[in-house]
Amino acid sequence: MSEKRQFKAIKGTRDILPPDSAVWNWFEQTARQVFESYGFRDIRLPIFEETELFARAVGAETDIVGKEMFSFFSQFTSDERFEDLEQRLHEELARDPGEEKIRALVDSNDPQIPGTLSQAAAKVRRSGESLTLRPEATAGSVRAYIEHGMHTLPGNQKLYYIGPMFRRERPQKGRYRQFYQVGAEVLGPSDAPGIDAEILEMLLALFNRVGLANTKLYINSIGCKDCRPAYVELLREELRKVKDQLGADSQRRIETNTLRVLDSKLPEEQPIIEKLPRISEHLCAACRDHFEKLKIELALREIVYEENWRLVRGLDYYTRTTFEVTAAGLGSQNAVCGGGRYDGLVEMLGGPAGVKGIGFAIGTDRAILSIQEGGNLPRLAGLDVFIAWMGAQAYPAAVRIAQKIRARGFSAELPPEEMKFRKSLGLADKLGARFALILGEDEAATSTYTLKRLADAHQEKLGEAALLDTLEAERKGTRA
Ligand code: HAM
Repeated sequence: MSEKRQFKAIKGTRDILPPDSAVWNWFEQTARQVFESYGFRDIRLPIFEETELFARAVGAETDIVGKEMFSFFSQFTSDERFEDLEQRLHEELARDPGEEKIRALVDSNDPQIPGTLSQAAAKVRRSGESLTLRPEATAGSVRAYIEHGMHTLPGNQKLYYIGPMFRRERPQKGRYRQFYQVGAEVLGPSDAPGIDAEILEMLLALFNRVGLANTKLYINSIGCKDCRPAYVELLREELRKVKDQLGADSQRRIETNTLRVLDSKLPEEQPIIEKLPRISEHLCAACRDHFEKLKIELALREIVYEENWRLVRGLDYYTRTTFEVTAAGLGSQNAVCGGGRYDGLVEMLGGPAGVKGIGFAIGTDRAILSIQEGGNLPRLAGLDVFIAWMGAQAYPAAVRIAQKIRARGFSAELPPEEMKFRKSLGLADKLGARFALILGEDEAATSTYTLKRLADAHQEKLGEAALLDTLEAERKGTRA
């Protein structure tokens, strides 16, 4: 048999345990409320998609597609021989994780199985399609929008999603390989700047509601397919002139992904970049007009922002408006949200022409980290009632009152075995219960309950109806 061993979460992934998980639920629940108040509705997308979807949407030359995707080959192949082989390999592996048996299986003279495992695997891979754990969800949202003909629905589609994303980045504070996003997308015929302004308003309304402090909104316009190519060409020419003074990454990007040079954080490149031509001076009339109107819309909503001409974002699908929000307490990974317009993406992914899009995604891990560091966490409701019962005769009454308390929407903890009184109250305290409900044989005999508020040890003897009323009044804060 295999040796005893313990398992650990994979590097860059982590468990979110109680009580932290309650903070996550609160954050996501608040996002749902805020987004739904703006008419957005939940879309639930697959965790993996065809690799090519991301390559096309996010861009083959981006860091995400070039080096950060978790890709794998589908087990399903068109060749049944290999399906059988795979099936047997999986079964053998499950039975015995050692390698010997598998090698024996592969080396056997079974005419169905080619010579070596690697040959077989290579063949399986070639015939299987390449899939990728989603590094982001805009591509999937657009794929779903097209696949389900959502352009035929009236007006703009306003969608939001909540869930894990996967990027093979170097893990550090605020950067994980499995991380979580809360995102929103607006897809439809209109690209009115009011849409851009409204999703920014919604985003900031959420940040305000959850107490995210010291946020800063940066905006930019990176032009469209009409004006950007000429600007990129100009930028490339200027960059070639100073190529020798740039680091290796930027040198490479001059040719592969020119705009991304503007994103460089290298201190020695900063004075060079500051002198480069700026996109705002090269926008076409339509893009300039869109950006000006966006700023008017933001002013109307009293949204404070800073323009940052270097905000180009790390994904290729953006056009016109781009934005990012930073927050305090995060060190170098201080972007809690990024987004922008992607007007050509639907058509590029095989959908109808003329559909516009804009959206953002919040990094939940970072947002929560920042709220925690700022000490702004809300007091989340914990356990309401701990039922301290004693004596076999009290037990049936304890079970029944627990059911009634829970049915009213309060949480109740009922020890499954009898406990000594002091131990019981000690546990109630440790669990952070607001009340202990004391139920001994005397109480059971007279159908009364002693309700003890643990914060100040105030206690009173109550009948069932009065007990439930008291809990209700405490919840509403209408009782002293
Ligand atoms: P993004 O800027 O790549 O944009 O990611 C959005 C946010 O996700 C970042 O600002 C950050 O807070 C968080 N994030 C990204 N990578 C990690 C990581 N490795 N660990 C922790 N947090 C991370 C997008 O994903 C676009 N799809 C946003 C969008 C939607 N644009 C239009 N619609």
